[in-house]
Amino acid sequence: MKKTILTLCCTLLATLLFAQTSTTIVLNQPDLNKGMNVMKAFAQRSSQSTFDTLSLKLQDLSDLLWAADGVNRADLGKRTAPSAMNSQDVDVYVVMKSGAYLYDAKKHQLDLVAPGDYRLLVAGRQQNYAIAPVFCVMVSDISRFKSGTDSVKLQLAALDAGIVSQNIGIFCAGTGLATHPRTTMDVPKLKEVMKLKSSQYLMLNNLVAYKKE
Ligand SMILES: Cc1cc2nc3c(=O)[nH]c(=O)nc-3n(C[C@H](O)[C@H](O)[C@H](O)COP(=O)(O)O)c2cc1C
Repeated sequence: MKKTILTLCCTLLATLLFAQTSTTIVLNQPDLNKGMNVMKAFAQRSSQSTFDTLSLKLQDLSDLLWAADGVNRADLGKRTAPSAMNSQDVDVYVVMKSGAYLYDAKKHQLDLVAPGDYRLLVAGRQQNYAIAPVFCVMVSDISRFKSGTDSVKLQLAALDAGIVSQNIGIFCAGTGLATHPRTTMDVPKLKEVMKLKSSQYLMLNNLVAYKKE
């Protein structure tokens, strides 16, 4: 009897957990002991055009997003990537086979924005890249800059997004993953899919994959 109740409870818990992960992917804590010496990572950094199509393991995805723009000083709410006037204008959207997600850095989780495979839209005219398992798409919300003209805000947005992209570049180099930064993507269609406001700009994307053996 006890065994039956325990089995029922486990099944219910598993069902609840699955229901939660269908719209939210709870990420693992970053593995701070991972990766090679930083100077070796710089020596390895490059843009890869060939890579494996295998999905990223949860730990690799978790480490990638934390390195890209996670919270590294919880007491101050500050991030692994600096931002002009600490505006934290850049959001990282993750586009994978299962859908487009928004990285919530505070909760260190991915929230589903749109189910479905939109990797072709991120690949844009470079369709050969659509087989990458993960794309990190950097979106700046320029309304988070409290002063300056739109032209100045867009310059700051480009700098802030570029820094997040470079965090990804160094993370990938240091952990043996493949990445490629690109501004190519289908901006109007992605804006629609990601339900972006007029103040949110798609700046650039990085595909991330395992290297081809
Ligand atoms: C802002 C930016 C935009 C880029 N856009 C594209 C792109 O749209 N398509 C592409 O294939 N590569 C793109 N790249 C990658 C560059 O072509 C690549 O970094 C350059 O050839 C140098 O190669 P390396 O990164 O291996 O040093 C971009 C790089 C940067 C920094």
